[in-house]
This record gives sequence, structure tokens and C-alpha cells, in this order.
Amino acid sequence: MKIFLDTAEIDEIRIAARWGVLDGVTTNPTLFAKVGGSYDDVLQQICQITPGPVSAEVVAEELEGMLQQGRHFAKLASNIVVKVPMSEQGLEAIARFAEEGIKTNCTLIFSSNQGLLAAKAGASLLSPFVGRLDDINETGMNVVRELVAIVKTHHLDAEVLAASIRHPRHVTEAALAGAHVATVPHKILRQMIHHPLTDSGILQFRKDWEAVQTAGQSHTHVGAT
Ligand code: E4P
Repeated sequence: MKIFLDTAEIDEIRIAARWGVLDGVTTNPTLFAKVGGSYDDVLQQICQITPGPVSAEVVAEELEGMLQQGRHFAKLASNIVVKVPMSEQGLEAIARFAEEGIKTNCTLIFSSNQGLLAAKAGASLLSPFVGRLDDINETGMNVVRELVAIVKTHHLDAEVLAASIRHPRHVTEAALAGAHVATVPHKILRQMIHHPLTDSGILQFRKDWEAVQTAGQSHTHVGAT
């Protein structure tokens, strides 16, 4: 499963790239608002650091506006994927982008039927929002599981990207459900690295190593006299 970072923070993206685990990045208007500045500049910087796809989200509600924004994003870098919300206009935009050879990520998917339609329209990434479904007492991971099965059964040319990931267990469940990608906030990526037993184990090994060094030094000293 590929790991994308769900952020517009350049420093977080640089760190994940250095860890060797970064396959792509997803941004959205809320994540960009935390960073500020020019969305174009931020996207271009992210694209330079990121080896894989970088999602740039359109905010226009009407088809022509979506097309205009998406075409503009697509020119910023070769790894831009235009993120389009699920809607009637969104589906049409996805179909038009597909005709133009522009890759899309259909966002705000909350049902398998929405994902099926997005894939048929030509989206290359389907983003079911797991955490937001969990928030309303549904099981978000079910949509991921169903969409993975639908994509495989019908040989659809799309990948399932588990989004709205809220904790490390979501990442494990997405991987087990066969998601092609999970997009993960930096904080959760960091949580995935750490385990209390790993941390205490490292500490204990260091203490034991240092104890042996100290004992070795005092032996040498005794032998020399
Ligand atoms: C996906 O691409 C979205 O940016 C993101 O996962 C939304 O997550 P949230 O529900 O935590 O806002």
C-alpha cells in the first residue's frame, strides 16, 4: 500500500521524504488554509519534494470553473492530480479531464456507489473518507473494503485511496482491506513509527552497552597496573 501525506506543510513533507516512506501528497483547502500564501507556490514546492502524485483541489462549484482551475493546476507540475469533489458537476469535470489526459482524485466519497461512478467517469484515485463516516456512527472502512472489491471485480482503472485517517489502526485496516493508498496526517505517520516497547528497548540496550564499556575500561586499568 502506498502512503501519501495529508498535508500542505512543506517541512512535514520533507521529513516523510527523508524517512523514505513518501509516495505522494494530498492537499485540500482546509489544509492549505493552515499554511497560507499562494496555493500555486505551495503546490510547486510540494511537487518538487514528492516523488509521486500531488492532489490539488478545485473549489469552483460549476463545471467551467472546475475545468479552469484543474487545467491551471495540471500545468504547475507533471505530478499534479486534480482533486474534484463528488457531485454531478464533479463527475462531468472528471470525465472531461480524463479526455484531456489530466489525472483526477475524486474526493468526499462516502458510499461505494459514489466511488463506482467516479471510477467510471475516469477518476484515477477514489477517496472514501473513513474518519468522517466513523464520526457519524458508520463504519468508514466498509466503503474502502467494498470499493476495493468493486475495482478488482470489474477491472476498473482506478485506485482506492483511504482518506480522513484518524489513527494508526485506520492505516492497518486500510492495508488489510486492500486499499491501494492511505493518505495520512504527519502526526499519525509519526505515531506509526513509535511503540513504547521499542523506545524502552532502545534505552535498555544503550544502558547495557554503556555498562559493558565502563566495566571494560576498569578491567584495562587494573591489568595495566
Ligand atoms: C483527503 O484527501 C482529505 O484531504 C483528508 O483526508 C480529509 O480528512 P479529514 O476528515 O481529517 O479532514
